[in-house]
Amino acid sequence: MEKTVLITGGAGFIGSHLVRLMVNKYPNYKIVNLDKLTYAGNLANLTDVEDKPNYEFVKGDIVDADFINQLFKDFNFDSVIHLAAESHVDRSIEGPMEFIVTNIVGTTNLLNAAKDSWGNNFSDKLFYHVSTDEVYGSLGEEGMFLETTPYDPRSPYSASKASSDHIVRAYHHTYGMPIVISNCSNNYGSHQFPEKLIPLFINNIKNNKALPVYGKGENIRDWLWVNDHARAIDVIFHDGKNGDTYNIGGHNEWTNIDLIKVMCKVMDEKLSRPLGESEKLITYVTDRAGHDMRYAIDATKLKEELGWVPSLQFEEGIRNTIDWYLENEEWMNNITSGDYENYYEKQYATR
Ligand code: NAD
Ligand code: TYD
Repeated sequence: MEKTVLITGGAGFIGSHLVRLMVNKYPNYKIVNLDKLTYAGNLANLTDVEDKPNYEFVKGDIVDADFINQLFKDFNFDSVIHLAAESHVDRSIEGPMEFIVTNIVGTTNLLNAAKDSWGNNFSDKLFYHVSTDEVYGSLGEEGMFLETTPYDPRSPYSASKASSDHIVRAYHHTYGMPIVISNCSNNYGSHQFPEKLIPLFINNIKNNKALPVYGKGENIRDWLWVNDHARAIDVIFHDGKNGDTYNIGGHNEWTNIDLIKVMCKVMDEKLSRPLGESEKLITYVTDRAGHDMRYAIDATKLKEELGWVPSLQFEEGIRNTIDWYLENEEWMNNITSGDYENYYEKQYATR
């Protein structure tokens, strides 16, 4: 094997797409997927690669420092691509501590283990930290997030991610650890846990359940197809400049309500409902506390320096995504049984 790469959070939404890409594209890399399998982790996301000779899954917690240190001794990793995190803003509002522990302490444990394992020999080593555009805060009507935009996180989730970004940079400046960080906009695609807007609303439309739109639905997000995020990570992992940050985004801004109406229209068509039927499910509910108004990424640096551009237009991507969730009913049913119902009840009953 040419190198051994640790991918954390590989059983989650973005992680599973990245693991699939890396395992298939680089048969000469050993890909080790470390995941705790929280509610958001699902090995069913990876059935097509689980038997590949260059792939190994390890169940474990990044918060457990002894376990992480031993893992680095066992595998002698050359590089880390770190995605494991608590990732849902609404959950961070209900319970910030899990986010602080996983996203900050967990990231620091990985950095410490990498530092100890690599000693002073950092040649051909890399710690790649996958982060979010939410660290930059909230935009008004104008402007976009650049790599130089000052951090201004406003939710416990984004504050914990911002904190982990700072710690990763601190290990670069203080110890000379080779690092890259990328900050990406909202992802959509297959295998996303149905607590996030797009899979949640697809599932609710299908089941004729209310669509809980926060506030007036005027908040804006910049949506990128998850496979394009994985492609960007691949490019940055191989060609990114040591110590640098790259913004990743789709130049694809939508108000929530416009996006939801597009989903309703496509779903009417797919489910052979009269046009306008699914829109009737739209229900305006109490806004999210501290709801960031607008995110928009300027990904010019990634395009100009590393030649990455998104490969899929949103109109096609959202149709493919809806098809995937409709065709993978069993995947959805397995996830939405048990604990999910408790979560849903707690999150939405009082809105
Ligand atoms: P996800 O919630 O779908 O997956 C997270 C994964 O991490 C799960 O498989 C979970 O089991 C695992 N995990 C959680 N805690 C762990 C722990 N203590 N130890 C080991 N594994 C643990 O998240 P996602 O949407 O795939 O996001 C992945 C990364 O990308 C996160 O770091 C997130 O901040 C970042 N990101 C996400 C988006 C987005 O739109 N989803 C956008 C930009 C950046
Ligand atoms: P989400 O998918 O949670 O991503 P993020 O908050 O990280 O951007 O939400 C996307 C947008 O959709 C956000 O503005 C909040 C809104 N939203 C709703 O209106 N209703 C919902 O039930 C959810 C989950 C999100």
